[in-house]
Amino acid sequence: MKARNVVIVDGVRTPFSKGGKGKLEAARMDELGAQVVRALLARNPKVKPTDIHDFGIGLGSGAPEASTPNYVAHLAGLPAEVCNFSSNRACAGSQETAARIAMAIALGEYDCGISFGVERMGRTLMGGGAPRATTRRDSFNPKQLKMNPEQRNMPADHFQYFSVPIPDYVLDSPPGASMVQTAQNVCDMYSFTRTELDAFSMRSQHKLAKAYDAGMYKEEVMPIEVEDPVFDDDGNWLPNEKGPMVTLDRDESVRGNTTMEGLAKLPIVKGVQSWGGKELMVTAGNSCPTNSGTTAILIMSEEMALKLGIEYLARVIGWGNGGVKQQLMGIGPVVSTKQALKFTGLHPDQIDRVEFNEAFACQVVATLKEVGIPESKVNVNGGSIGIGHPIGATGNRLIMAVARELRRSNKRYGLCTQCIGFGQGMTTVFENPNAPK
Ligand SMILES: CC(C)(COP(=O)(O)OP(=O)(O)OC[C@H]1O[C@@H](n2cnc3c(N)ncnc32)[C@H](O)[C@@H]1OP(=O)(O)O)[C@@H](O)C(=O)NCCC(=O)NCCS
Repeated sequence: MKARNVVIVDGVRTPFSKGGKGKLEAARMDELGAQVVRALLARNPKVKPTDIHDFGIGLGSGAPEASTPNYVAHLAGLPAEVCNFSSNRACAGSQETAARIAMAIALGEYDCGISFGVERMGRTLMGGGAPRATTRRDSFNPKQLKMNPEQRNMPADHFQYFSVPIPDYVLDSPPGASMVQTAQNVCDMYSFTRTELDAFSMRSQHKLAKAYDAGMYKEEVMPIEVEDPVFDDDGNWLPNEKGPMVTLDRDESVRGNTTMEGLAKLPIVKGVQSWGGKELMVTAGNSCPTNSGTTAILIMSEEMALKLGIEYLARVIGWGNGGVKQQLMGIGPVVSTKQALKFTGLHPDQIDRVEFNEAFACQVVATLKEVGIPESKVNVNGGSIGIGHPIGATGNRLIMAVARELRRSNKRYGLCTQCIGFGQGMTTVFENPNAPK
């Protein structure tokens, strides 16, 4: 089999709203998703709906009305003959979906596909769905909290990826850690200070607000009309009450007025502990929020793009997936990025732009140190601390952002990367062949 070039043609998304309390709370994700897909096709009139071979959905928990792969494709008006599937690599759900489509195109199975991502999160990470009664058959299995020696011990190739050992107290801590706890574990492993994490977060919020003000998000974020949700005094959405229609054209967690003083006042997230007795550091200010939103990108063989006369954004040139301890899931991108660079034969210095999902400031700072990419090349238009991270929808956002930014800045190589719950990282590498070498 011969591999063909694969390109990212375009990408569009809804604004991301605050999980459980934002303007998307009353919205149907299947309808919003269909709107996003229709907008993607309307912006690319050279591509006919019958040209789409495969429609993939990336999700974590998704949203019940939109998680069945065919639902959104049908509402978007795609022909019944378009194939559809879903993939769940938790936080990298839509990055995985895009990879699957790109791989099928590279191997010549078909020429064109859409990667769609969707998530509706609640006010807490897992608070999106209705409570469900469990039985002895499907309740949480306490064995998930036990480890065999191989699962507990530091891996033999650890120092191939990391410059510091994993503290024993982290290795001995329970594997099913919450995401915020895994962030504290990363802080402990790297002995970060709260100031450096808050400073990173403040810079991220400032870059984002500046980019929004400069109109940099106009191509990526599609303004939408939604019903203003009505909440009770405890913040619960009241489904039987209807608010007026309002326009949402901006991510809801952008905070351009973020200051170090404001961040320093934020409390530590409840329930987080340091197994090594170190300073607690994880706050709402240096973490991504919980969010809802949908994303879609159009992926094609370069051959087809050239035939149709389409000016694409970037080529996909490689991937990396890497596993780490569950308790340190935030440093998954160290492994996946080093593997992706090896796979593509690129040196970190050759990477001009990175779109790094800022799940937590600590895991981005740690990864950049380990991989050797300066912050000046990373999330130049802001990141998920302010944009938000609607789990399954994020991968597509990272892809469209880095592909667009490579083209805008006329830079050649870029990558996107993200950590993944339960201890993984995923990285995709891109090339803008029109940029100077
Ligand atoms: C960290 C977390 C627990 C915080 O939850 P929360 O307290 O409900 O957080 P919010 O985002 O609503 O922020 C709470 C308050 O902090 C303050 N705040 C947040 N960011 C701030 C900033 N940059 N400057 C000043 N204040 C800020 C605000 O007062 C905010 O309230 P408001 O939104 O009503 O203005 C939650 O966002 C979370 O779980 N994030 C991680 C999600 C995750 O794990 N995703 C997967 C990663 S792999």
